[in-house]
Amino acid sequence: MGHDVFMDPFGSKTSKTHLLLYEICILAIGTCGAVTVTVPTELILGTVGQPLLLPANYTTGTKDQNIQITWTFQSQSSGSMLLVTAINNTLTPDMEHGHRFFLSPPSASLLINPVELRDDGEYTIKVTVSGVKVASASRQLTVHVNVPVSKPVVRSDPAWGAVEYVDNATLTCTVNKGTKVIYQWLKDGKPLLASSRHIFSSDNKMLFISPVLKDDLSNYTCVAKNPISVNESEPIAPNIYYGPYDLMVKSEPRFKVREGVFAVGKGEPVWFKCSANSNPPNVYSWFQKANNKTTPIQWGPMLNIKSEKVPEKADYMCCVYNNITGKRDETQFTLILSATGQERQKQKGSSLHSLAIIVGLSLSLIVCMLLYFFLRRYFPRKVIKEELYHRSPTDYIRAHQVSEEQEPPTDDYGIYEFVAVPASAEFQQVPPDKLNTVYDIIRVPDVHTTVYDVICHSPKTS
Ligand SMILES: *[C@@H]1O[C@H](CO)[C@@H](O)[C@H](O)[C@H]1NC(C)=O
Ligand SMILES: *[C@@H]1O[C@H](CO)[C@@H](O)[C@H](O)[C@H]1NC(C)=O
Ligand SMILES: *[C@@H]1O[C@H](CO)[C@@H](O)[C@H](O)[C@H]1NC(C)=O
Ligand SMILES: *[C@@H]1O[C@H](CO)[C@@H](O)[C@H](O)[C@H]1NC(C)=O
Ligand SMILES: *[C@@H]1O[C@H](CO)[C@@H](O)[C@H](O)[C@H]1NC(C)=O
Ligand SMILES: *[C@@H]1O[C@H](CO)[C@@H](O)[C@H](O)[C@H]1NC(C)=O
Ligand SMILES: *[C@@H]1O[C@H](CO)[C@@H](O)[C@H](O)[C@H]1NC(C)=O
Repeated sequence: MGHDVFMDPFGSKTSKTHLLLYEICILAIGTCGAVTVTVPTELILGTVGQPLLLPANYTTGTKDQNIQITWTFQSQSSGSMLLVTAINNTLTPDMEHGHRFFLSPPSASLLINPVELRDDGEYTIKVTVSGVKVASASRQLTVHVNVPVSKPVVRSDPAWGAVEYVDNATLTCTVNKGTKVIYQWLKDGKPLLASSRHIFSSDNKMLFISPVLKDDLSNYTCVAKNPISVNESEPIAPNIYYGPYDLMVKSEPRFKVREGVFAVGKGEPVWFKCSANSNPPNVYSWFQKANNKTTPIQWGPMLNIKSEKVPEKADYMCCVYNNITGKRDETQFTLILSATGQERQKQKGSSLHSLAIIVGLSLSLIVCMLLYFFLRRYFPRKVIKEELYHRSPTDYIRAHQVSEEQEPPTDDYGIYEFVAVPASAEFQQVPPDKLNTVYDIIRVPDVHTTVYDVICHSPKTS
């Protein structure tokens, strides 16, 4: 009996092959005497419904011997069973499982087609040669069979939306198909980590946000994966009610005097736009505060003011209200009407015109003065002298008087302009006593040219 126990450690099911295995070689080495079995990989992933090949090779040292290849399967649910065996290229399929397990000797690889979930487990290939001596070797492979994951679907609760700082939100990820699925959450494409407000269920299928904030307003995606597949949900953005935030009033920049103060010319139309960030959109209302009275004036984000119809100085207020969060905010500014505001605008409009005038005037002034100094320096005295030399003493005296009276140094200052004067014989005939100014003398009596008369607009002194 003792001998039997020693020889038969696997119990009553012990087959001859097991005995050989026990006697001759060690499983883990996979090689024994003249036989070597090799498998390229020990873990094989299978997809349900598809063929799965379990590759294996063996070598034997000698020829002229019987070769037996045996595949056995072992799993927790189905125990151990023989799948297929072949001796010298003659296949003996197992009657129970043989229709899905194929061996084509001399190849030792096993084909499972189609693979099923219950094929998940350990596979053992054993090759035995028996000639002069009996030798055997075996290797083990692990097969994981999975169903690919279908596209996950994310549901957000509460579906209508959550109010920030008040409500909690739950995102739940589900897949219709898939085995051994693990879940992962992405927020705007980046892995979402657990935090005091973000809690995951133990299987990671659920994300609990408590309480929700505006920051949580992002695109969430659930990634479901198993060893053979990855699938990603459509992004979902939970509806979060928040605000109002960042309230501000805008107008045309030219009206802004400083923060909260606008000035506008009387009669000029002006608009103000109130904006604040909120979900759902705010309800906007406008109030005017003047003479200690607050008057509601308009609804909606835009306020148009016709400035002739409002007080010279008044405060305006924009109120925003989020009717879901129940929060409100308001901002106030001052609008001042100014007469100058309008003039300034007009001036601006015609600035080009006035600039041209100023430039023109200054140029003519410069030219006038240059000309005047030029003439004064060279011509007048010469001309006067010439005239005087040919004149009678009375003329000389008169001319001298004219020169003295009409040209006191201070009288030269003023605004000068050029006037085109048709040159005519009249001027030549002007008697010296009718000369108005010293400049009349210098006119050249040339009928073919236009003569420019210099007129001096002196300040009226006498
Ligand atoms: C078995 O061995 C042959 C030749 O050595 C090689 O071509 C083949 O890829 C091997 N197959 C496996 C599954 O290792
Ligand atoms: C198997 O083949 C070997 C040689 O290839 C031969 O010697 C042996 O008799 C065969 N065994 C059987 C059972 O056919
Ligand atoms: C995701 O699942 C859908 C079916 O739900 C499938 O059509 C699609 O190919 C899968 N995508 C990936 C990347 O596996
Ligand atoms: C949100 O969750 C917290 C616990 O995390 C709970 O105390 C609170 O009552 C929940 N709020 C709502 C509105 O359900
Ligand atoms: C979510 O993604 C879409 C498309 O990329 C984008 O238009 C939308 O603004 C995003 N939503 C949020 C809350 O980031
Ligand atoms: C506005 O009211 C304050 C006190 O409420 C008062 O002192 C002030 O005189 C009032 N001004 C006008 C213009 O009525
Ligand atoms: C809240 O405000 C929105 C946007 O202004 C409006 O469409 C909605 O009817 C309001 N709801 C309630 C309950 O007043």
